[in-house]
Amino acid sequence: MIKFEKSNFILATKDLNYIFRVLPTGQLEHLYFGSKLIDQDYEVFQSKITAGAGSTIEYVEGEHKTALDLLTLEYSGIGKGDYRISPIEVKMPDGTFVSDFVYDSYEIHDGVVESKELPISRANDQKVKSLIVKLIDRKFKIELKMIYTAFFNSNVISRRVIISNGDDKEIVIRKIMSMMVDLPESDYDLITFDGGWIKESHKNKRPLTYGTYINDSVTGNSSNRHNPGIILAKKDTHEDYGVCIGINLVYSGNHYEAVQISNHGLMRVMNGINPHCFEWPLKKGQSFETPESVLSYSNQGFNTLSQSFHEFVNTHITPRQFQNVSRPVVLNSWEAFFFDFNQRKLESLAKKASKLGVELFVLDDGWFGSRNDDHQALGDYDVNRKKLPGGLDGLANNIHKMGMKFGLWFEPEMVNPKSKLYENHPEYAIQIEGRKPALGRNQLVLDLCNKEVRTYIVEQIKSVLNHAQIDFVKWDMNRHITDMYSSFIPNQGMFFHSYILGLYEILSEITTEYPNLMIETCSSGGNRYDLGMLYYSPQIWASDNTDPIERLEIQEGLSYLYPQSTISAHVSLAPHAQTLRKTPLSTRFNVASFGVLGYELDLKYISPIEKKEIKKQIELYKTYRDVFQYGKYYRFNSKDDHHKIWQVSLKDTHILGNFQTLSNASPNFETLKLKDLEQDETYQVSSYGQSMPISDFGHLISHALPIKINAYGAIMRMIAKYKQLDNATEDVIASGKALNHGFRLKQQFMGTGYNDQTRILGDYGSQLYIAKKI
Ligand code: GLA
Repeated sequence: MIKFEKSNFILATKDLNYIFRVLPTGQLEHLYFGSKLIDQDYEVFQSKITAGAGSTIEYVEGEHKTALDLLTLEYSGIGKGDYRISPIEVKMPDGTFVSDFVYDSYEIHDGVVESKELPISRANDQKVKSLIVKLIDRKFKIELKMIYTAFFNSNVISRRVIISNGDDKEIVIRKIMSMMVDLPESDYDLITFDGGWIKESHKNKRPLTYGTYINDSVTGNSSNRHNPGIILAKKDTHEDYGVCIGINLVYSGNHYEAVQISNHGLMRVMNGINPHCFEWPLKKGQSFETPESVLSYSNQGFNTLSQSFHEFVNTHITPRQFQNVSRPVVLNSWEAFFFDFNQRKLESLAKKASKLGVELFVLDDGWFGSRNDDHQALGDYDVNRKKLPGGLDGLANNIHKMGMKFGLWFEPEMVNPKSKLYENHPEYAIQIEGRKPALGRNQLVLDLCNKEVRTYIVEQIKSVLNHAQIDFVKWDMNRHITDMYSSFIPNQGMFFHSYILGLYEILSEITTEYPNLMIETCSSGGNRYDLGMLYYSPQIWASDNTDPIERLEIQEGLSYLYPQSTISAHVSLAPHAQTLRKTPLSTRFNVASFGVLGYELDLKYISPIEKKEIKKQIELYKTYRDVFQYGKYYRFNSKDDHHKIWQVSLKDTHILGNFQTLSNASPNFETLKLKDLEQDETYQVSSYGQSMPISDFGHLISHALPIKINAYGAIMRMIAKYKQLDNATEDVIASGKALNHGFRLKQQFMGTGYNDQTRILGDYGSQLYIAKKI
């Protein structure tokens, strides 16, 4: 799976090869990243420079083919003629920025090369191999270890770099990328996943042309602005066809991804820690490790690429003890009560939730100190006895007695200036003497560069966890970082990365001490949705936005890089708190079910008929939970902006969600084509029966009823609480081949006539279809 042959390094996964070679001058030339090759083909991928180009600098005098600027390299330096964007910028012992790293030796290992301080993909199976290629600077004893790992089953290659200073003088790293690669073609689109609070991970695509494009974050975390994961796709690539390369970073801090098209049409790609405000001194004998960059490739479209990443995250990133483990159905108290609750209210909600089939009750913000709004008490994790007279243990016991697990919210990295913690330890908060610190959500960030602060946080969390039976923690982080300063680091350029190392240390301690505690991370929703956090927490609260129509974009964006098992998705009330959009309960569930399902609402406001529906939804989700959470995931090429189709498949079960965000007058007929079915087997496809509120018909309902009732009157409102109208269902038996070809759906309501065989979707309507082999 990794071999060295005639100066070529050949890495292989199940379906891919990654190949580079040692040039006679010592640099590493990138040769190939793509689907598996027949051995010995490598020569055709070598650069064919025959006469050089004007203005280029020759690395070896008189030999134009050594012009670094014209080669497809695996890594580069500065000051030797490669004028493309450099992956490394180091102030060398002689005070210059010139570095020239060339090949020294290599080693091949089983498994991964462990890291002392950073989360690194887990080996987890026998088919993981690593390669370390050692490069040495031509002038100084400064070494770059280029680490490559091939994850055979997931079709992922990972890369990272460790730099070590063997010189007597200190060096200063100003930029060091985890990965750089030059590809010989540049006709790609760049796809990024961008947004902000309540609009995370929206997919954006732009064509690449001559120049440099940067996707990054400078907020202190991986951010909701630009996810660290990017995709490069050939122009005609779609979900099931075409070439694409996905790149992600196992890191939760400021990240940086650059794509540059050179003046000769080569494409340079790199990712790593953002060089913004970064400086890292290294004394003799010291090393610096970059986070791990992960790459995958598909020539069968985006779905295959995503499926590789999904398999990779589920097998090599998330904590072992939660891999392939069913995730519980949650009820979270936040949107139900915000800060306004007491034990009685919580238990009454929990009781209702347990009757509906909920398995985990999560008490969100507001349970400690004087935390009655978001202006105060962050950092004071002593239970508010006024709200919870029985204490956390009393509440946790009662929740457990109801047959559910108990979860608790923390925001351990933060402090409100109005808190006991800040009164006692103002020096724990990040701020600069002589400057008024900028607040975000009325809070300051704790200085995780300070060991005392880290110990304090760990102790605080432990003391809570040891006092009550807490099965789950929602770990929040609700602001970006400003006023970057810590007196605990020798150089302020170390600040952002040291913060993240501090965070990883805290998370490691907690997860080691409480291996069965499931952590869901959150950062105002998806402000820190990255592989670094997933290493400690198997799921992430994807967005504070639970409007299903918005979630279609957010969850679909995330699905390109992250599996459904990581995407926490809740059903909340309608009209939605952020969009005021009124969506059917069925659609809220149908969207959330393609993730880790939860409910986040006060069941007091749910009518008896809706409660019945929720109970049915939870039953369905539990029946097919593994398919929803771990099934192979497919996005369908959308026929227009108003429709989306997703499918999940596990063994003999396939579930398809058909979503319509806007209805058309007299809509087109529809055909559904299922994917991944065995051609010669027989399947039964049934739609999941869902009903519609009578009010959806407005005054038309009076035409359907035998008696005349005011469609908007009190009697109708009363009836609506107990009665809904059945929507048309489908039940089809056919071969895999026929269903792959597509089966015709019953017509949608076309403005006239209605019977129980007419599908009604309307705006925001959706339908689940379940196909099972029979
Ligand atoms: C953030 C989270 C929410 C909730 C609140 C509590 O906004 O994203 O889910 O936990 O904090 O203050």
